[in-house]
Amino acid sequence: MTQTIQFALRGAKNRLQSASDSGSLDAHVLLAAVLGVERAYLLAHPEQPLTHDQQIRYEAFIDRCAAGEPLAYILGRRAFFDREFIVTPDVLIPRPETEHLLEAALTFAHQHPLCVGVDVGTGSGALAVTLAALSPTATIHAVDFSPAALNIARQNAILHQANVQFWEGDLLTPLVERGIKVDLVMANLPYIASGDLPTLAVTRYEPRLALDGGADGLDLVQRLLQQAPAICNPGALLLLEIGAEQGAAAAAIAQSAFPDAAVTILKDLAGLDRIIQIAQ
Ligand SMILES: C[S@@+](CC[C@H](N)C(=O)[O-])C[C@H]1O[C@@H](n2cnc3c(N)ncnc32)[C@H](O)[C@@H]1O
Repeated sequence: MTQTIQFALRGAKNRLQSASDSGSLDAHVLLAAVLGVERAYLLAHPEQPLTHDQQIRYEAFIDRCAAGEPLAYILGRRAFFDREFIVTPDVLIPRPETEHLLEAALTFAHQHPLCVGVDVGTGSGALAVTLAALSPTATIHAVDFSPAALNIARQNAILHQANVQFWEGDLLTPLVERGIKVDLVMANLPYIASGDLPTLAVTRYEPRLALDGGADGLDLVQRLLQQAPAICNPGALLLLEIGAEQGAAAAAIAQSAFPDAAVTILKDLAGLDRIIQIAQ
């Protein structure tokens, strides 16, 4: 049976009602993606029939959404700051909270236009690529342990014509080995305690390597802060994303790694601890 936009949307909304808090919005976003139109088009053309192919593709999208798969993986993209990123299940879906870290990094890069920066655990490349695109005179490195994630980050760098030097390896090791010094360290490393992972919905779809922060969630942050003093130039700024409960513990680790630095906890829009800032 040939379906109209209105008919297809009604069916999809009914299916997604119990599966998602944003069922109606998801139904619209997915149909707009299938048709290659803006969402407003759907409201303006309710009687337009879908082709057989469009119906099949839409039903497949709705099945995945009803099963709980994040919209970003179904669409293969996610908005971050001022641009869209390619995302696949090989990378964490960039979160709005991480935009706070980017804003602080951009302020630093605009004050130090020739700075050298590194994004540790780059994933989709959201931080490194956006910073490199908006601060083209800076030199930006990005590291990830996952070759599959680096493949996506490279695609995003090409998409946004951002000049980023990518390295596969553990934390800052690729830079340490090459004697590269930096003025800016950005890191949104995994910070969920291993014991909490089984209870969380995110683990159904997002890569464990992007989430698991060890026994107390701070293993990687701690190891990064052990490596960092050796590669930081005088006056360097470090920005590390953390979990809402980790502010005091992470600040103490940061202060012991950088005894003379000003360590500050920056909060997100919800007023929760979100970033450890270390200013030397
Ligand atoms: C929480 S995700 C963050 C991704 C991206 N920076 C963002 O903000 O959306 C953490 C990333 O760190 C990477 N990672 C985990 N352990 C690592 C390690 N020891 N060295 C380098 N990268 C690591 C993961 O592969 C993953 O891509």
